[in-house]
Amino acid sequence: MLDLGLLLTLYPPVKREDMNTPVPPAIRIKGIEKSYKDLHVLKGVDLDVARGSIYALLGSNGAGKTTLVRILATLLKADGGTATVNGFDVAADPARVRESISLTGQFAAVDEILTGHENLVMIARLRQVKEPKRIADGLLERFGLADAGRRRVATYSGGMRRRLDIAMSLIGEPPVIFLDEPTTGLDPEARIEVWNVVQDLADGGTTVLLTTQYLDEAEKLADRIAILHQGTIIVDGTLAELRTLLPSATVEYVERQPTLEEVFLAIVGDKSPANGKEETR
Ligand SMILES: Nc1ncnc2c1ncn2[C@@H]1O[C@H](COP(=O)(O)OP(=O)(O)OP(=O)(O)O)[C@@H](O)[C@H]1O
Ligand SMILES: [Mg+2]
Repeated sequence: MLDLGLLLTLYPPVKREDMNTPVPPAIRIKGIEKSYKDLHVLKGVDLDVARGSIYALLGSNGAGKTTLVRILATLLKADGGTATVNGFDVAADPARVRESISLTGQFAAVDEILTGHENLVMIARLRQVKEPKRIADGLLERFGLADAGRRRVATYSGGMRRRLDIAMSLIGEPPVIFLDEPTTGLDPEARIEVWNVVQDLADGGTTVLLTTQYLDEAEKLADRIAILHQGTIIVDGTLAELRTLLPSATVEYVERQPTLEEVFLAIVGDKSPANGKEETR
């Protein structure tokens, strides 16, 4: 069984802001530092994420993406620097930050003993949304889990758990969503389904910060992309801006733009971003 205290931390009641309040960037990160004992993971991270945008945070394994997301989600304290989410300081005002966000972690946080429907209803009750059962049914339908909704999650495939996990994070429609590797382990169809959901969220004004190892995912979804490397953001911009960092290759009359993967590898160096398995050309 999952721990109720942790669940309340992850899924507190959502409060949407008053329409008349001034609009700060959804996420503002300044000089964030974090070490685990001698391991200096984040060495002064700066990043602004505009409201309603999709921001992809890329980085090799161990670059510190999850560490940064956990700091923004108030699950971990930074050693230095400041960060605000939805206008609230993560260190000074963690409760207000939690009311503004949801986090889908790198590893699915669903309860195995419960059914998919029960998991969703439980979170809907924690977040104090109206009509939790109707909301749960709607999300099961939207994520292709309607048939499996009354089965225990213990019987779900990895992809089904992932989809349920993302569905849970949408309950209460928080203005800022963190997705830490949302499509890892999903089949191509399920990935596209998740992409469509993320795009719909951003179109509806939700801010999405996602980490991913799939560079095509960042290319497809992100308004802006940042690369975290050796403790700092070494480059950030739109895909078009990142592409200008490499000269475009031309073959006869056909201009070929470098892929984001090529830009990434040229900047980051020798480490393969795709689980260390893929060979790059
Ligand atoms: N609780 C912890 N204690 C000690 N070291 C940690 C802890 N959490 C993370 N680290 C280390 O900090 C570094 C950054 O880890 P983090 O999980 O933030 O990276 P990541 O970019 O999310 O990697 P991945 O792509 O593999 O998910 C790694 O070297 C990791 O081993
Ligand atoms: Mg990670």
